[in-house]
Amino acid sequence: MVYSRLGRRLRKLNIASFKEYLDCMESGTGEEFAAFINALTTNLTYFYRETHHFSVLRSFLESGGLPRGATIWSAGCSTGEEAYSIAMVLATVRGLRPQNGQVVASDIDTSVLEHAERGVYTEERVKNVPPADLKRFFLGGMGDNAGFVKVRPELRQLITFRQINLHGTSWAVRVPVKVIFCRNVMIYFDAPSRRRILERFAAQLDPGGLLFLGHAENIADFGGVFRSLGQTAYMRTDCDA
Ligand SMILES: C[S@@+](CC[C@H](N)C(=O)[O-])C[C@H]1O[C@@H](n2cnc3c(N)ncnc32)[C@H](O)[C@@H]1O
Repeated sequence: MVYSRLGRRLRKLNIASFKEYLDCMESGTGEEFAAFINALTTNLTYFYRETHHFSVLRSFLESGGLPRGATIWSAGCSTGEEAYSIAMVLATVRGLRPQNGQVVASDIDTSVLEHAERGVYTEERVKNVPPADLKRFFLGGMGDNAGFVKVRPELRQLITFRQINLHGTSWAVRVPVKVIFCRNVMIYFDAPSRRRILERFAAQLDPGGLLFLGHAENIADFGGVFRSLGQTAYMRTDCDA
């Protein structure tokens, strides 16, 4: 996989060997390093992926789980579908006012973040979005933009996009964080890295806060800090043991 993804990059730059590519990256300004990271990430995502998580989020918001000004973090947001799905649930329950709750959406990959920030999707990609949400939160494209939809600015303003490497030493996320979605991201990490990141999520989340992981991820070996709510949704307990 690494060979074929980087091979595409080498062909594009007309470079003959991985050694030459490495030299080019190490002597450059850092621009190629970003392209190198972007070439290696796997970005599959879609709107309302694992719908049950959004039902849990909705109940959490309806029961007043998110204090005013608190953050919901979509960590590893890819092209933005997860963050906009969260924002639609937030807006449905709490209205379109940023002071009632905001989403931080982050990824390591700068090209998917650019796509996410544009908020433009093909009609095919929004087929999982319920018609009422589509009508309320998207604008249909016309003329040259036929076949595309764009997220309405009122929804877009609930989200701040930023580049965050989960392996990095500091995460610039506004606190308090009440909900973290980190789905289908850590599946690519080794066990010690996963553990380190889960420890940092636990420290970042208030007790009673929620953590959502992808369906193939679990934290069974992580101890009592997160209580399972079923289907890879977890609640941060107040016990650090
Ligand atoms: C398969 S996508 C999942 C998108 C979304 N969370 C979902 O479940 O639909 C995984 C995302 O994690 C991002 N990612 C991979 N390694 C990362 C890291 N070290 N820090 C932040 N994001 C990372 C990738 O760039 C990619 O966009």
